[in-house]
Amino acid sequence: MGGIPDPTVEQKRHSPKRNDTQERTQNTGMATQPLHEDMEQVLFSADQIQERITTLGAEIARDYAEKEPHLITILKGSIPFIADLMRAMDVPMTLDVLGVSSYAGTQSSGEVRLTKDLDDAIEGRHVVVIEDIIDTGLTLSYVLRNLRQRMPASVKVVTFLDKPSGRGTQIEADYVGFTIPGGFVVGYGLDWNQRYRNLPYVGILKREVYAGPF
Ligand code: PRP
Repeated sequence: MGGIPDPTVEQKRHSPKRNDTQERTQNTGMATQPLHEDMEQVLFSADQIQERITTLGAEIARDYAEKEPHLITILKGSIPFIADLMRAMDVPMTLDVLGVSSYAGTQSSGEVRLTKDLDDAIEGRHVVVIEDIIDTGLTLSYVLRNLRQRMPASVKVVTFLDKPSGRGTQIEADYVGFTIPGGFVVGYGLDWNQRYRNLPYVGILKREVYAGPF
């Protein structure tokens, strides 16, 4: 893990590990500058996100009008998304959370492990997995393999962001909020070094934030 991500090389992670030598981003507990000053570009504004989620939620609710969906959200990046998405779905539904940790530095092969299991059984239920982003697809592959062993009636996947250029495995979501290009996206749940999750929009991080000044 760790190392300075090279933006000229396709990275496995949308949230590469920070360079520990950079004081500016060290986790000292001291306030630095406003988060938005670290953004190269705003990709999707808070309004655009809400508008898209309203449409997406209505579409999913329509598809599940005859069967109650059991939403399973993958911690932690999906927290803002699930909070907004489920309120955009006007159908009876249930919710559970799955904790998954994946890390691989900047390599294309990763290790995924369960950090928090589901509270409820899913056998015979119509499961809808909620992700914040599909990048390499390794996390989702692991999650789907794990969930399918529990014999749900069906499994579909919703992802807030889809980054097809990062894909290392053939896997697609059934519902996609936005498709994004390369670059280090943060905000609306997505982190870099555990930060920026609280931004209300999705932005691309300035290179100097993770690589330092030239
Ligand atoms: C992120 C994200 C997805 C996964 C996508 O999780 O939330 O679960 O990576 O990447 P992949 O398609 O390359 O596997 P992360 O492990 O960073 O944890 P987090 O959600 O707590 O930030």
